[in-house]
Amino acid sequence: MILKTADSKKDVFYLINKHSGVVSRAEAEILLEFLFNCEKLDLYVKEFIINKTIEELYDLLVSRRLSGEPAQYITGRAEFMGLGFIVTKDVLIPRPETEILVNEIVGARFIAPKILDLCTGSGNIAVSLAKLIPQAEIIATDISENALKIAEKNAALHQASASIKFYKGNLFNALMFAENPKFDIIVCNPPYIKEADFPFLQKEVRLEPRIALNGGKDGLDFYRDTAKESRRYLKKGGSILLEIGFGQREAVEDIFLSHNIFDVYRIIRDFSGIERAIWINLL
Ligand SMILES: C[S@@+](CC[C@H](N)C(=O)[O-])C[C@H]1O[C@@H](n2cnc3c(N)ncnc32)[C@H](O)[C@@H]1O
Repeated sequence: MILKTADSKKDVFYLINKHSGVVSRAEAEILLEFLFNCEKLDLYVKEFIINKTIEELYDLLVSRRLSGEPAQYITGRAEFMGLGFIVTKDVLIPRPETEILVNEIVGARFIAPKILDLCTGSGNIAVSLAKLIPQAEIIATDISENALKIAEKNAALHQASASIKFYKGNLFNALMFAENPKFDIIVCNPPYIKEADFPFLQKEVRLEPRIALNGGKDGLDFYRDTAKESRRYLKKGGSILLEIGFGQREAVEDIFLSHNIFDVYRIIRDFSGIERAIWINLL
């Protein structure tokens, strides 16, 4: 006869429920995947031994989360387009809303497009596009050397290094040494938070790199610069896809239309119905 100890009654569900109401189930799963070095599904189909040490380690992860550290920075991993990405405090945590940009480009069925991913951060957009459009030729740029190192690691992790070239620099200046920098598509999730809004951001967001968030006084600096400079880097009829912040649609449209060389093709809403991305074509 096998005598069960008190610990043997503790399973993954015990841990998931232990801090329920304080951390969400989704976050509890992320922390447990990290703790057991497994996939989410494994939590529910495999058996794990929950001893005192495991429980203490889990409590420690939860206490880090409760002190405001995002689960993705604790685990070093974030999910985007169903792929796992390495993240550190040098990069913005990829957001589900940003998947809109990738889905729009993939849905448009470009054939072997040349794509520029400006402000690549963790490389989430560039790497996802490389996986989903294998014939695409992609250049990804960022001003942050540390972010580019992470993006390069993510490209290698997903066997996408051959399709993406990385360059460091301030917006389009990064293309100084790129060969024939003329693109069918420029995609960008730029920093777009107003400087004055920083004190009101959630604690978690304030832990993300300020350089990844700060869009200047009115949050629109990057849209103005992109509207001014992108013409040189787009093929005739080329497209610009930009993520936009809440309530920025009209101002961003005005910025581009004031140049008289662009047409607003589409506004795309996110899952909450918020206008989240803008697709602009060069006439
Ligand atoms: C909002 S994050 C987007 C990261 C990633 N593309 C994503 O969607 O999660 C903006 C990125 O722009 C980069 N950045 C900020 N200022 C820049 C500049 N002047 N030129 C190029 N990149 C810049 C930041 O380092 C950061 O990685």
